[in-house]
Amino acid sequence: MNNDIERVLLSEQDIDTIVTRLAKEIDRDYAGKKLLMLGILKGSVVFMAELMKKITVPVQIDFMKVSSYGGGTSTSGRINILLDVLRADLSEYDILVVEDIVDSGKTLSYLTKYLANKGAKSVKTCTMLDKPSRREVEFDADYSGAIIPNEFVVGYGLDYDENYRALPYIGILKPEVYSK
Ligand code: IMP
Ligand code: MG
Repeated sequence: MNNDIERVLLSEQDIDTIVTRLAKEIDRDYAGKKLLMLGILKGSVVFMAELMKKITVPVQIDFMKVSSYGGGTSTSGRINILLDVLRADLSEYDILVVEDIVDSGKTLSYLTKYLANKGAKSVKTCTMLDKPSRREVEFDADYSGAIIPNEFVVGYGLDYDENYRALPYIGILKPEVYSK
């Protein structure tokens, strides 16, 4: 195990079980629709890649990038769009926004409204992790992998200061790593 990890919260096997369940739910709900999975860079890439492989209904993918944390462990609150979805007309797509984690809820609550305003046919959200105890705005994801306690986690796409994204599991970062 990586030395900066205090303990593993979700093992590779735990994650596989969760992603398989989410893919089944999405398959069931998106039959006959025009699913566009919209990954939020960069945290969602590992989750998105594994999820799309398990989904059997037709799917297109795209990405957006928004600014959130900088180098710290809590959100600045302001959402800036750094890369927008590069499609002229969203009105034919049933968009599923794919995120690594919902924390304050500000990112996804903003993005769902933004995409609806841009004319998407429908907008839903899928998150690997959810920290409901940290919510600052009212927001519930439509598909949620696992509810986790108020701990800062890394791995499986999630970073601290751009590190640890490649860990195949999700682990709690030792507090001394970000307090030094
Ligand atoms: P929200 O807008 O506060 O819900 O922010 C969600 C974003 O904060 C996620 O996409 C992550 O980039 C980041 N984030 C929140 N909690 C964690 C964590 O425990 N580890 C790593 N990133 C996190
Ligand atoms: Mg993120």
